[in-house]
Amino acid sequence: MSDSSSASIPADKAVVAQKAPFAVDVESGKKYWWCSCGRSATQPFCDGSHKGTDFVPLEYAADKDGALYFCGCKATGKSPLCDGTHGKL
Ligand code: FES
Ligand code: FES
Repeated sequence: MSDSSSASIPADKAVVAQKAPFAVDVESGKKYWWCSCGRSATQPFCDGSHKGTDFVPLEYAADKDGALYFCGCKATGKSPLCDGTHGKL
């Protein structure tokens, strides 16, 4: 039996959390874990929901304070940050 909770989404496919970036004020010296699978309920960061998929979170270590735009569509070529790819989805 397979897990039915996300049966329609294959384990090797990322979910589009939203077709826009998430703006986050990051703090220098802090680490952030970007959700690459799109399944987290606490976007844009990982909440462990990738369990059972082929995805793992991506660490981002902030080297300065300020707003960053983390990819919400999970299709960026510059993960974890938005590179505009969401506009082509
Ligand atoms: Fe998406 Fe962890 S919940 S990578
Ligand atoms: Fe994914 Fe912009 S939100 S590339």
